[in-house]
Amino acid sequence: MATVLITGANRGIGLELVRQYAADGWRVVAACRKPKKALDVEKVNGDVALHALDVADPDSVSTFVDQVKSETIDVLINNAGVYLDRGIPFGKIDYAGWVTSFQVNAIGPVRIAEALAQQVEQSTRKLMVFLSTQMASIANNSGGGAYAYRASKAALNAAVKSMSVELKPRGIGCLLLHPGWVQTDMGGKKATLDVRDSVHGMRRAIEGFELARTGSFLSYSGEILPW
Ligand SMILES: NC(=O)c1ccc[n+]([C@@H]2O[C@H](COP(=O)([O-])OP(=O)(O)OC[C@H]3O[C@@H](n4cnc5c(N)ncnc54)[C@H](OP(=O)(O)O)[C@@H]3O)[C@@H](O)[C@H]2O)c1
Repeated sequence: MATVLITGANRGIGLELVRQYAADGWRVVAACRKPKKALDVEKVNGDVALHALDVADPDSVSTFVDQVKSETIDVLINNAGVYLDRGIPFGKIDYAGWVTSFQVNAIGPVRIAEALAQQVEQSTRKLMVFLSTQMASIANNSGGGAYAYRASKAALNAAVKSMSVELKPRGIGCLLLHPGWVQTDMGGKKATLDVRDSVHGMRRAIEGFELARTGSFLSYSGEILPW
């Protein structure tokens, strides 16, 4: 049976990833900050193991990695993320929030990938997925604003691109995915996409992944996005 590891598994896109992979018969290693409060994950039928993980806290990452060291990880999905500066314009930039954004959106996922690379390498599918956003695209930025969110996800993109080059000889693939504008706490009620459709599309992109395309930045629909 294949194993998927999902961060930020307690709500939104992460929770739907848990639901769909578990329903499909995968072993799911689900990680979130407060597992005792992750009641929706507990309700999911299937082979689901729940662990505590704060992706921004190096001690939490190291405790988590130790807890899952016996797992072989086919697909590692770095999903946890924050969008702290929606609507905050130039002149009001929150620098503390900028630091948190980098810790959660850029540094945490790389730290986790580095710590778990060997377990991914030992698997059959050997894939690391990173939830990015089209807002990270510098070429496509016509709206301005969101300094911390855009910059932290663009930093993630740059780091994952490097990682993809270094890990390709080991047979490990890296994929950056934009989930669409999705109806979650982050996306809000006006978002255009149901979380089930977004996750369904991303799972199709994951399923169709080939190592030759490692380092790609794709939308949930499989479209290539500009950096
Ligand atoms: N929704 C969209 O339209 C959209 C669009 C583009 C990209 N994305 C990306 O997709 C991913 C998931 O987004 P979403 O819409 O599901 O967001 P969401 O509903 O706000 O959920 C965010 C998840 O990340 C977790 N998280 C935040 N900080 C964390 C930390 N330090 N350690 C561990 N977990 C942490 C949250 O856990 P807590 O409950 O503990 O806070 C929650 O599980 C994010 O990376 C986001 O940037 C979303």
